[in-house]
Amino acid sequence: MSSTEMPNSDFDRAKELKDFDDTKEGVKGLADKSITKLPRIFIRPPDELAEDLKSHQTHFQFPIIDFRGILGNWYNKEIVEQIKDASEKLGFFQVINHGIPLNVMEGMIDGVRKFNEEDPEIKKKLYTRDRRRKVRFYSNFDLLKSRSVNWRDSLIISANGLDAEDLPKPCRNTTMEYLEHITKLGDKIFRLMSEALGLQPDYLKSLQSAENKTFLCHYYPACPEPEITLGGSKHSDISFLTILLQNQIGGLQVLYENQWADIPPVEGALVVNIGDFLQIVSNDKFKSIDHRVVANSNGPRISVACFFSGSEDTNRPPKVYGPIKELISKENPAVYKEFMVGEYARKFFSGKLDDKSGLDHYKI
Ligand code: OGA
Ligand code: NI
Repeated sequence: MSSTEMPNSDFDRAKELKDFDDTKEGVKGLADKSITKLPRIFIRPPDELAEDLKSHQTHFQFPIIDFRGILGNWYNKEIVEQIKDASEKLGFFQVINHGIPLNVMEGMIDGVRKFNEEDPEIKKKLYTRDRRRKVRFYSNFDLLKSRSVNWRDSLIISANGLDAEDLPKPCRNTTMEYLEHITKLGDKIFRLMSEALGLQPDYLKSLQSAENKTFLCHYYPACPEPEITLGGSKHSDISFLTILLQNQIGGLQVLYENQWADIPPVEGALVVNIGDFLQIVSNDKFKSIDHRVVANSNGPRISVACFFSGSEDTNRPPKVYGPIKELISKENPAVYKEFMVGEYARKFFSGKLDDKSGLDHYKI
């Protein structure tokens, strides 16, 4: 059987998944063995590979927005217009001159690299999918259930009440520093997004949408057979907003007008994208767009996605979200039901969405 034909029908997939999980060393553990063939669990089903991995968008210009014109709370209408345009059409843009120093960004990436490359025993101790743990490490959150295993490992850090001591040493100080900066930048972007929706600048913040920051720190080792697997499957983000830091390897793609388009890494830039929750509260004005990461024979690719996921429903009283009243009218009725953040996430993580997207599930 060649590796591009039907994979996974004639072997004990469940056992191989479990054996891989039990190593607690993730994909990095395999890459370190200098394998030249991918284990079968990583080979994508033909329907996923049928979508060519290469970008077909030849005339696609990925929007880059310059925040240089923003001074404190003063900003020009032009930036708001650019954000509105990108959020409505593509749901993605990059920002430059956003105020986070290059050395802080590089420090964050470097900390994640060190965590993954230094001592496997630290990683093993953190290996869990228990969402109550503030800091956890795993390869593929849905490994044992999913038919598509991603060529990447992830360190997840919940920033809520995060104490430096909670963090693994190799990325402790760098993460605390990056957190401080990303919090400020998040506030800024939520103000701009509010204005772009025609709302008061503090509107989205008043919904507590900038709360509950979680870092998804991904490590994609160089891949021996990048053409038959993926670094990250197609998905949209369960967040209001995601701000993504990436190193210079590349591989991130967005689905734009049914074609995959590359998001080329730009030195010093951050990628911003709209998540499902902001699509719902904006009543479809802003788009939460599918994206994925292709694997690469170069590596490691390192990225840090900061998810702003809003108020958890463990708070009392729980916060219920729905399309913003100011954005709905007789001509423009609500197209989504109300939801709670934790409830949405639990449905997603337990696979209760029956292969539907969360957005379809909450659609009226
Ligand atoms: C994510 C994601 C992309 C990347 O974590 O949701 O889309 O570049 N990450 O790692
Ligand atoms: Ni994502």
